[in-house]
Amino acid sequence: MVTIIDGKKISTDIKNELKEQVEQLKEKNIEVCLCVIQVGADPASTIYVRNKKKACEYIGIKSLSYELPEDTAEEQLIELINELNQRKDVHGILVQLPLPKHIDEDRIIQTISPDKDVDGFHPESVGRLSIGHKGFVSCTPAGVVQLLKRYNIGIEGKECVIIGRSNIVGKPMAMLMLRENATVTVCHSKTRNLSEITSRADILIVAIGKPKFITKEYVKQGAVVIDVGMHRNENNKLCGDVDYDDVLEKVSAITPVPGGVGPMTIAMLMYNCVLAANYKLI
Ligand code: GUN
Repeated sequence: MVTIIDGKKISTDIKNELKEQVEQLKEKNIEVCLCVIQVGADPASTIYVRNKKKACEYIGIKSLSYELPEDTAEEQLIELINELNQRKDVHGILVQLPLPKHIDEDRIIQTISPDKDVDGFHPESVGRLSIGHKGFVSCTPAGVVQLLKRYNIGIEGKECVIIGRSNIVGKPMAMLMLRENATVTVCHSKTRNLSEITSRADILIVAIGKPKFITKEYVKQGAVVIDVGMHRNENNKLCGDVDYDDVLEKVSAITPVPGGVGPMTIAMLMYNCVLAANYKLI
């Protein structure tokens, strides 16, 4: 029987656990606080930011938001981040990406204090993950590991193939699976004989950015398939990077789109905010 991995349920479980922790912190007079900065009015970003604020509200995390105009100067944004870095009442800082073209994204990411880097994008956070030190982990890959663990899907010793090498998903995903003692292969747009490699995977994680690209020819019998993609098809319906109906007969477990990995990203962002507030206790 195939297991349909329910990311909506797991993300709700995590948010409810965090709600309790946030209450306990309140008893110690710590109000967990996330600051979200959006520059410009990209419609997709506006929806993401709204959902992040809604999740904060549900858990009891205070959210501060800055909606800055499209033509905000890089120096102005740097100044704001430096100010927030200093503030003791702000635990997490998130600058919604993408930023307008005149702003250097790398410089902005590096300005956020690593202690408040709830996205896990700062080079220090990435470095910590790479050498196995504690720190903030990029939210989507962290969410994938939570899904596997909470469904009791063993990772240790498994062949894990990841398609995609982005800084936000593919690379941190590889580091996390390595930390969980999987044997990890990372494939990308220049990989030869892709289906030959993916057919070896006990756990196949797909973040390729092409709708329904992965069909049953790419999947081993009994594999666990995690779909990080999110697209709208010709009928305006959401679909992932995996052709769900095509692979279903072959897999032992799979994440649907929507309702798989998607809801986990915000849950793990909330987790990182609570972690940031706890860091202050040490
Ligand atoms: N834009 C799309 N996804 C993300 C994310 O996880 N964090 C930030 N900061 N921007 C994004």
